Amino acid sequence: MTKKTHDLKRIRTTPLDAVIIGTGAYMPERILTNDELSTMVATSNEWIESRTGIRERRIASPEQASSDLGAEAARRALANARVQADEIDMIVVATITPDMGLPNTGCLIQQKIGAHNAFCFDIEAACSGFVYALEIASQFISNGTVKTALVLGAEKISCITDWKDRSLCVLFGDGAGAAVVQARPAGTGGVIHTIMRSDGRLGDLLMLPGGGSRHPASHDTVSHGLHYMKMDGREVFKHAVTCMTSVAKDVLTACGLKVEDLKLIIPHQANMRIVKAIGDRLGGKPEQYFVNLDKYGNTSAASVIVALDEASRKNHLKKGDLVLLVAFGGGFTWCASIVEWCHG
Ligand code: COA
Repeated sequence: MTKKTHDLKRIRTTPLDAVIIGTGAYMPERILTNDELSTMVATSNEWIESRTGIRERRIASPEQASSDLGAEAARRALANARVQADEIDMIVVATITPDMGLPNTGCLIQQKIGAHNAFCFDIEAACSGFVYALEIASQFISNGTVKTALVLGAEKISCITDWKDRSLCVLFGDGAGAAVVQARPAGTGGVIHTIMRSDGRLGDLLMLPGGGSRHPASHDTVSHGLHYMKMDGREVFKHAVTCMTSVAKDVLTACGLKVEDLKLIIPHQANMRIVKAIGDRLGGKPEQYFVNLDKYGNTSAASVIVALDEASRKNHLKKGDLVLLVAFGGGFTWCASIVEWCHG
């Protein structure tokens, strides 16, 4: 037998629960209504509302980047959780609109809020981003590596929107949301189970082709509009409905739950017709589906956490309630999570 030359300290402990102890959101002040959009492109309030359910969206000011929106959402989440910035061990930001390629948005938010003890990174899973990030944080927490995490979705989608493309520019908006997630003894609640899926074969249906290493920024990429999102709306619609429905059913089955057991379902806030189509397939009552997309449009990675924060602040959730988060985005990526509410 080889002689032991070290005294390895086993850091990982028994699994812990990852519990959301506070949330916050920040939506830019500027409201862009459907009527105002109708003066910019050939559309109408009637067309947008009947096809999407969206009435208005928020647009960040030219001085505001995603980290500014995220930092304000983070401050509100920390106040809500009664946690100090220096208690945060980890910041993970879901975004497709980072301020810049480097440094990451998490580090920029860290600096803005003074969370100097955290390690920080971004993830890119498009509109599924927040749920992916929440699961990543919850894995760090459950295995004992991290005690307190700040999880954000922060987006300035207006800067990757072609304001001449009427089939796309009516759908999106800017905003940020944040959750403080902390370790609690096993059995407390929090993130119970998450399923995350992807299918890269469908990537072409929703993409932002320019500005990366495939098509680095150049006069050409700018003149061809490659820095704007491109989407096949009809195809995305179909996949969003089937993917979100199936992953929601799978996570419910995995947890031994029925739709009736859920207090709230928080779907990605893309389009009211998508939410209704999921409702037809998944079941449950209309009042179980929380929707605020009429006010904000699709805020990509921010959408689920912004909706969860609003639901919490409007007292739709109490301790012990079960919430289903379900999202879908470019990639394609999709995911569903069951969260037991322990806050408030
Ligand atoms: N205003 C007026 N007319 C518009 C328009 C607008 N803003 N956008 C498109 N149209 C027109 C089209 O040009 C088309 O005209 P045509 O028949 O003369 O060619 C007509 O409306 C129908 O277009 P179509 O694309 O078939 O509409 P739709 O019913 O599929 O609705 C979306 C379009 C984009 C609203 C819908 O496909 C959708 O919601 N897709 C999912 C998008 C999404 O949520 N993406 C993010 C997922 S994370």
